[in-house]
Amino acid sequence: MTNDIEKVLFSANQIDLAVNKLAVKINEDYKDDKPIVLGLLTGCFIFISDIVRKLNISCQIDFMCVRSYGSGTVSTGSVNITKPMTMSPKGRKIIIMEDIIDSGITLSYVVKYLYEQGAADVKICTLLNKPSRRQVQVDITYSAFDIDNDFVVGYGMDYNNKYRNLPFIGVLKEEIYL
Ligand code: IMP
Ligand code: MG
Repeated sequence: MTNDIEKVLFSANQIDLAVNKLAVKINEDYKDDKPIVLGLLTGCFIFISDIVRKLNISCQIDFMCVRSYGSGTVSTGSVNITKPMTMSPKGRKIIIMEDIIDSGITLSYVVKYLYEQGAADVKICTLLNKPSRRQVQVDITYSAFDIDNDFVVGYGMDYNNKYRNLPFIGVLKEEIYL
C-alpha cells in the first residue's frame, strides 16, 4: 500500500504534535462548557479518536454521516445526511471534527443544518484545510495545516475507501487514478 504513495506530506509524529496543539486550545476555550464533539464520518474517525483522548473537558461524542463525494476526488456539490447524529443538538455547543475542508460545501451545509435544529453554537475543527479550493465561505476556528490542491490520503482519508489506515498523510502516485 505504501508503494502507491508519491510523497508524505505529514508524518505520524507531525500529526500527533498538531493534534496536541488543537486539543490545548479546545481545552482552554471549553473549560467551563459541556460541548458535543461531533465527528463527520468516515474521514474523521482517526482524527477524532486521537483528539478526544487529549481533551480533559466534559464532552459528549456523537457522529454524523454526510456524503458529498462519490468514489472520485471531486465534490458532487450536493450533500446528503446518510446518518443523523443520535443526540439532540438543541441548545448545545457543538464542535464539528472534520478531516479536511475542500470546497466547504459539506461544512456549510452541516453548520446551517445544526443551527436550524436549534444548536446554540457551532464551531469547526479540521485537521487539514485547502483554502484555495473554497467555493462556499466557512468560518474555521481550529485548523492544523493548510495544504495546496493535492488530493491526500491516510490518517482516515481515502481514495475509493482505501488508504484510510495509513498512519501518515500523503499524496498518491498519478498512476493510481488511471
Ligand atoms: P468539501 O465539501 O468539498 O469541503 O469536501 C469535504 C469532504 O471531502 C471531506 O470531509 C473529505 O471527506 C473529502 N475530501 C476533500 N478533499 C479530500 C482529499 O484531499 N482527500 C480525501 N478526502 C477529501
Ligand atoms: Mg469527510
